[in-house]
Amino acid sequence: MKAGTSSSTPAHNSLPPPTSSSSARAARIASHSHIKGLGLTPEGVAAGDAAGFIGQNNAREVRAVLLACGVVVDLIKMRKFSGRALLLAGAPGTGKTALALAISQELGSKVPFCPIVGSEVYSTEVKKTEVLSETFRRAIGLRIKETKEVYEGEVTELTPAEAENPLSGYGKTVSHVIVGLKTVRGTKQLRLDPSIYEAIMKEKIVVGDVVYIEQQTGAVKRVGRSDAYASSYDLEAETYVPLPKGDVHKRKQLVQDVTLGDLDAANARPQGGQDIMSVMGSLVRSGRTEVTEKLRREVDRVVKGYVDQGVAEVVPGVVFIDEVHMLDIECFTYLNALLESPMAPTVVLATNRGRASVRGADDLRSPHGVPSDLLDRCLIVKTDTYNREQIAKVLQLRANVEGLKLGPGVLDRLSAEGEKASLRYALQLLTPASIAAQLAGRSQIEIEDVGEMNELFLDAKTSARMIGEDGGYDGGRAY
Ligand SMILES: Nc1ncnc2c1ncn2[C@@H]1O[C@H](COP(=O)(O)OP(=O)(O)OP(=O)(O)O)[C@@H](O)[C@H]1O
Ligand SMILES: [Mg+2]
Repeated sequence: MKAGTSSSTPAHNSLPPPTSSSSARAARIASHSHIKGLGLTPEGVAAGDAAGFIGQNNAREVRAVLLACGVVVDLIKMRKFSGRALLLAGAPGTGKTALALAISQELGSKVPFCPIVGSEVYSTEVKKTEVLSETFRRAIGLRIKETKEVYEGEVTELTPAEAENPLSGYGKTVSHVIVGLKTVRGTKQLRLDPSIYEAIMKEKIVVGDVVYIEQQTGAVKRVGRSDAYASSYDLEAETYVPLPKGDVHKRKQLVQDVTLGDLDAANARPQGGQDIMSVMGSLVRSGRTEVTEKLRREVDRVVKGYVDQGVAEVVPGVVFIDEVHMLDIECFTYLNALLESPMAPTVVLATNRGRASVRGADDLRSPHGVPSDLLDRCLIVKTDTYNREQIAKVLQLRANVEGLKLGPGVLDRLSAEGEKASLRYALQLLTPASIAAQLAGRSQIEIEDVGEMNELFLDAKTSARMIGEDGGYDGGRAY
């Protein structure tokens, strides 16, 4: 059956064909895609839901959680929280993962944020402590300032010069490329290597763009389109930049952001050619080259040298370990050590366990399944289950993000379901309900759609009740 075609008699469950733009957009909606930040103002918690995180002023608990996270964000930005840990603890579906993502959004793209899930550390190939320490190294940023000799200006000419290929009789090759660059002060014509021409083609540079070319490496960077070519459109993807000042050939300060993890990996890889065959070859031959502790120490030493000279600046980032109770006692001990190392990032942990046994030490029961020596190093923030009003707000937000229209009373009904079952269940009903509405030929979700889906799909609590105490569908018989 061809569902979704526009035949005259559609099957009962066929959907109207999605328009290409809306399906492309729907594909990008993940369960947290409405979270854009914490929504804090200098005075406290924003009343609206501008940043996608619901925390209205009247709910004291949510407000406290948001303020706590706001304080942590400020401390991280001031680089005063590294080597410490924040633990988000609370029941499932109370927004712990959402909070951590909101924190990362607040920090911006310049502060490294490395999320992992507790169970990710278990691998048959890599030691679990290795996974942890790699994640920690990826969360330490390094801002390197370099002064480089560059040619900068607006491209006035771009002419590749071709020559007969001396090796084979076929075709021609680019022997060099003539690039004209213009600044406020003057113009210059450069004769460049064919490899730079490739870089120019890759960056899609055309006459009228402002570019710079590094003298030593030949790396080409497009800054934007020159002002002189600015059009009169109100909205457009292009960035316009003024004609560069000074000479074409100058010394320029460039800022590069890398992480310690990048440096480790770059130094562990066997140095070969840059072409694709040698990269593939090294993958096949040696598999993953290990980053040894010795190499890390070497990288640290070089980095420390840079920092002392003022060339580089350390930017401690954030490691987020979701479902932290999945770690075992060895990992927890290692975490303690990592937290105390001189270059440690901020650590955010999340768990939905109450009192649970610590993995790997089953006789040890501890709050949140985290040993007490690690708990002692944490600031703990408890997230609470949402009330009806808050559930309604989250639902409305999700409906907006997914582009769904809600009919009268639907929000009430859904939030009642959410209160009875869970916020997640209510959120999960939204999409199927919208499909039911579409099938009935409506563009808006009505109460009956929600009711229908509520009958079709069980929530966790109902399902658990149906299984019953004896734990089977068949009168408790064990299968
Ligand atoms: N305050 C909020 N504002 C907006 N959306 C929220 C809020 N709290 C939770 N959500 C949304 O509700 C859903 C469930 O929250 P989330 O996944 O963060 O729960 P959790 O605490 O991590 O649960 P678990 O313990 O099961 O991992 C997500 O889609 C999340 O984006
Ligand atoms: Mg979660």
